[in-house]
Amino acid sequence: MNLVLIGPPGSGKGTQASRVALAAGVPHISTGDILRRAVATGSMLGDAVRDAMSRGDLVSDEIMSDLIAERLADLDATVGFVLDGFPRTIDQALALDALMEERGLLAVVELSVPDDELVRRLTRRRETEGRIDDDEAVVRDRLAVYLRSTQPLIDFYKSRRTLLTVNGNLPAEQVTERITLAVDPIFDKYFDSVAGHID
Ligand code: AP5
Repeated sequence: MNLVLIGPPGSGKGTQASRVALAAGVPHISTGDILRRAVATGSMLGDAVRDAMSRGDLVSDEIMSDLIAERLADLDATVGFVLDGFPRTIDQALALDALMEERGLLAVVELSVPDDELVRRLTRRRETEGRIDDDEAVVRDRLAVYLRSTQPLIDFYKSRRTLLTVNGNLPAEQVTERITLAVDPIFDKYFDSVAGHID
């Protein structure tokens, strides 16, 4: 399974990516988690991205594309992956295209959740987890960045007929079920066609 989850901040990408990846036996690759770990350990990468992240801005396409190229080259990702937080721009999507050569089918799921629910989820998380970019003003900036830079990816993948939209405004278990119901037949059909080709 090669799956990308796209959605605004708080739409449940991380929650769903971890569940779907576990069920499929592939790694869950969260660019936000990788960057937050880099900031926490004070690595060179962390120093380079700290300011952009605290403002809710995007880290540069070059840094992100290199980071994902390196991560997808790891052995555990040869069987597939669930990407959470990448790509976020058209340039990143083009970089992923280049990395997908010889890797089979890529499915893209958009999680759709209304803005007021996103703000409610993230300000609640701010109280429990203390993520600095969950401050309400920064959340609104992250939403604006999503609309400007990442929303265009929806049309990009729609035009390739690889986009599936799932209602993310349901209890998490129901969202997982809907993602699985949407994605499984696509990969089943793909594997059947590859097997037929080999026969
Ligand atoms: P990242 O960590 O990817 O942040 P994000 O996209 O803003 O996403 P979140 O983690 O806030 O939300 P989510 O959609 O994963 O939802 P979650 O499951 O956590 O990126 C952080 C920053 O890193 C970016 O702002 C940028 O600076 C940088 N960055 C990362 N990738 C980059 C890239 N490719 N290019 C450039 N810069 C990049 O859920 C949110 C909350 O809602 C949780 O509390 C959860 O428990 C709750 N929740 C989840 N599902 C449900 C549900 N169904 N019902 C009720 N509550 C739910």
